[in-house]
Amino acid sequence: MRRFLEPGGSFRFDGTVPGDKSVTHRAYLLATRAIGETTITGALRSRDTDATLGVCQALGADVRHVQGRDTLVLRPPARLQEPSGILDCENAGTLVRLLTGLLAGSGLFAVLSGDASLRGRPMRRVVQPLGLLGARIEGRHGGDVLPLAVLPASLVGREVSLPLPSAQVKSAVLLAALDAKGETVLRDLRPTRDHTERMLRQFGAEVEIREDSIRIHGGQELRSPGQVLVPGDISHAAFLLAAAALVQGGEATVRGIGLNPGRTGMLDVLRRMGLQVEIELEDEAPEPRGDVRLQAGRLTGVEIDGDEVPSLIDELPAIAALALCAEGVTTVRGAAELRVKESDRIAALRRMAEAVGGAFEELEDGFRIQGREMLEGGVVESHGDHRIAMAAAILSLRTRQGVAIEGAEAAAVSFPEFFDLFAAATGH
Ligand code: S3P
Repeated sequence: MRRFLEPGGSFRFDGTVPGDKSVTHRAYLLATRAIGETTITGALRSRDTDATLGVCQALGADVRHVQGRDTLVLRPPARLQEPSGILDCENAGTLVRLLTGLLAGSGLFAVLSGDASLRGRPMRRVVQPLGLLGARIEGRHGGDVLPLAVLPASLVGREVSLPLPSAQVKSAVLLAALDAKGETVLRDLRPTRDHTERMLRQFGAEVEIREDSIRIHGGQELRSPGQVLVPGDISHAAFLLAAAALVQGGEATVRGIGLNPGRTGMLDVLRRMGLQVEIELEDEAPEPRGDVRLQAGRLTGVEIDGDEVPSLIDELPAIAALALCAEGVTTVRGAAELRVKESDRIAALRRMAEAVGGAFEELEDGFRIQGREMLEGGVVESHGDHRIAMAAAILSLRTRQGVAIEGAEAAAVSFPEFFDLFAAATGH
């Protein structure tokens, strides 16, 4: 679907955004694996997270919707049931990787697949460490590409060194370790979002967390805490904050969003770009949560390196949009992971920038952008990638001719309400 966004406009937003995608995936999966019913409030309803709900139902969970669309009660099966068909993870990388870990020691046979994008993404990163625990997982390209078949296996706790700073891989190993005999120790960890560790504790598991290692014992039962509250998604908020930053006099206040320290890198970048960002923390546990307020100002280019990347990896499309309109140069390095997201995001962002008349240099592990006061506008292809569609949308605010987005429906993968909220905030 092609959607045209008019050039310019004001930007004022004060409100909430839908639930956090990472937390919603985890809430559904842990609630399915736990003893006792869980009421999940503020869940994200999107293509990705609905795929997770479908998988949980295929494993035997019973799902009841109570209030509106985003509060639901999940009753787990007494034991996970062997799915009778292929588990379709659609576009969701987090789902397929966490699920592989959850099923590795379940004793069940399961086949996991997804859409064309997901079938092209690397899975060895989870298959290899899970194999160290004794998991038997087969797949195309020697187990690197979907469909994956998870075969029944008995897992044994081991020391596992993680090859890359990935919350998905860490989470897959933690979930598998619950079914392993003895202790699993994850080593060489670099900081990444710790939603899984926090939620495992919320479900009563003992997880020992040190600076760069985590220990977890197998054979632990998960017990539902009864209620899980999903905060608003900071990755959704990122596009609204960036939109406000692109417009003279723009303002955005996003309320009740998750402020997990592994996710807030973009707020630091916004400040380094010269903007005023206020954060009001309301809750600390189980996830930090609060309001973020931003006022537009002059934008300057910034340097972002590999250490910072995990804390803002999903926000780099929004940051690229800002950089295209900032004064000076923005350089992002150490972000080769962008090449294996829902699209090759480095290439997709270059095409987006070129389509609207921006100056973008593709680097092997990132990009360099020379900002411009104003962009021309044009037709941007989303490549089926939700975050490219939303980055293109906010750029329309700084174009002379507007932006037409080819494949705009991709936004529904994570943020189905995006275009409505955006239209209301711009006054178009
Ligand atoms: C996620 C972790 C990140 C992130 C993804 C969601 C998660 O991926 O990019 O959108 O929920 O654990 P990696 O862990 O692969 O870096």
